Amino acid sequence: MSEVIAVMNQKGGCGKTTTVVNTATSLAVMGKTVLVVDMDPQANATTSFGIDKNRLENTIYDAIVGDIDIKKVTKPTFIKNLFIVPSNMSLSGAGVELSKQENYHNILKETLKGVVPLFDYIFIDLPPSLGVITVNALIASNSVLIPIQAEYYALEGVADLISTIELVERRLKSPTPIKGILLTLYDRRTRLSKDVHKELKNYFDSNGLLFKTIIPRNIRLAEAPSFGKPCLIYDPDSTGTKAYLKLAKEILDRDSLNEDSNINEKKNRRSD
Ligand SMILES: Nc1ncnc2c1ncn2[C@@H]1O[C@H](COP(=O)(O)OP(=O)(O)O)[C@@H](O)[C@H]1O
Ligand SMILES: [Mg+2]
Repeated sequence: MSEVIAVMNQKGGCGKTTTVVNTATSLAVMGKTVLVVDMDPQANATTSFGIDKNRLENTIYDAIVGDIDIKKVTKPTFIKNLFIVPSNMSLSGAGVELSKQENYHNILKETLKGVVPLFDYIFIDLPPSLGVITVNALIASNSVLIPIQAEYYALEGVADLISTIELVERRLKSPTPIKGILLTLYDRRTRLSKDVHKELKNYFDSNGLLFKTIIPRNIRLAEAPSFGKPCLIYDPDSTGTKAYLKLAKEILDRDSLNEDSNINEKKNRRSD
């Protein structure tokens, strides 16, 4: 089954794009078929794969606002099994244009319908806001992954984020469970990082939402995009690469556990 994951946090710089690019690459290298949907007009995910955002014939904008088939906008990357729907600045006006249309919250979901079944995982990279684009992504997704940076006020805004998710669930009767909370930019030498980890554990560990994997602050992760490469290609031995491989494995393990429990549930229902 395909899983569509929106990577969300209205804070900028908390590692959304880095997480999308490197988790998607890790899963592709592990043999999964993966699509990255860049929904940020800044197009950092697009350029992280070495794609020139100023030379694109079609982008996600043409698929959601125009009538270009999403399959035409889906491009292979230089990594096997990994595809991207790129973005660029044209997307910056899309929120306003979308909101003029009927049922505008569902447009991304409708747009992606043609490609979702072709992939095991689809990651949606989002801009730092809770606007029309983000709500569209929530409705188009099966789950949300929330990166949280190990810094002061890290948790500020998370309450807003979670209440937006719940509001969308209630209003549109479209539940989007939280897949996991991911601690990013962790520096094990600092007290601050440890404090934030502790706080996240207090909030999210009891319901199993906090990923065990922690993403360390690692310069290689920050350098890789300027070479147009995911970190796994730029420096396969870096701690950043290893952390995202571990996260990918954790996601696969969680998903196979869920699948097992679904199968068991079905079996139990049949034997009732
Ligand atoms: N774990 C990390 N270690 C070092 N630098 C990182 C790490 N994660 C992200 N960065 C850098 O921090 C900046 C913000 O990250 P980014 O993924 O673009 O965040 P967002 O998409 O949430 O705005 C970028 O320059 C990125 O390269
Ligand atoms: Mg980003």
